[in-house]
Amino acid sequence: MNNKITFASAETCMIMDPIHSNSLGNVHGGELMKIMDNIAGIVCVKHTKGTVVTARVDEIEFHKPVHVGNIVTCTGQLAYVGTSSMQVMVNVVVDRLDESSDQEPALTAFFTMVHLVDGKPSKVPKLVINTKEEEELYKLGEKKYKEIKLKL
Ligand SMILES: CC(C)(COP(=O)(O)OP(=O)(O)OC[C@H]1O[C@@H](n2cnc3c(N)ncnc32)[C@H](O)[C@@H]1OP(=O)(O)O)[C@@H](O)C(=O)NCCC(=O)NCCS
Repeated sequence: MNNKITFASAETCMIMDPIHSNSLGNVHGGELMKIMDNIAGIVCVKHTKGTVVTARVDEIEFHKPVHVGNIVTCTGQLAYVGTSSMQVMVNVVVDRLDESSDQEPALTAFFTMVHLVDGKPSKVPKLVINTKEEEELYKLGEKKYKEIKLKL
């Protein structure tokens, strides 16, 4: 994760066990989506210091399979905030613990999370942009937010 970006972020790392997989040793997509959803939630709880729910997951792409024994690292990065919603970019990379292979991107998605107070959408703190990297991330998140608004 880029350390010049100070927008809220979170990262977790897990080894995939048989409980996460089918009988052939392939990790279920839903297991990986659960990890991603959890990290997106943590990012937004850090930003709002409150309660958040998942409103949408956009264009989740499974680039590579994940197998039992692989280590997955999931990172979430706040990219943009609307009024009560937040765009979080979530990436999963996989380490196969095999000397011949490098860490590979496995999944990516944008999550829309909504801040709730008393069960209703509530304003989120604005983002303060300090660096060029943050500006680029913000523009990417804003583009995603606007695309989603057109679909609602
Ligand atoms: C998400 C939810 C709170 C939105 O409620 P709502 O009454 O439609 O809210 P509003 O129309 O006032 O919209 C609030 C914000 O959510 C965004 N939003 C609402 N539905 C959305 C959707 N389907 N996709 C993306 N964003 C959405 C709006 O764009 C708005 O963003 P903004 O404030 O930044 O402009 C409501 O649909 C809900 O509770 N859904 C179930 C959430 C859930 O159970 N998730 C799984 C467990 S965490």
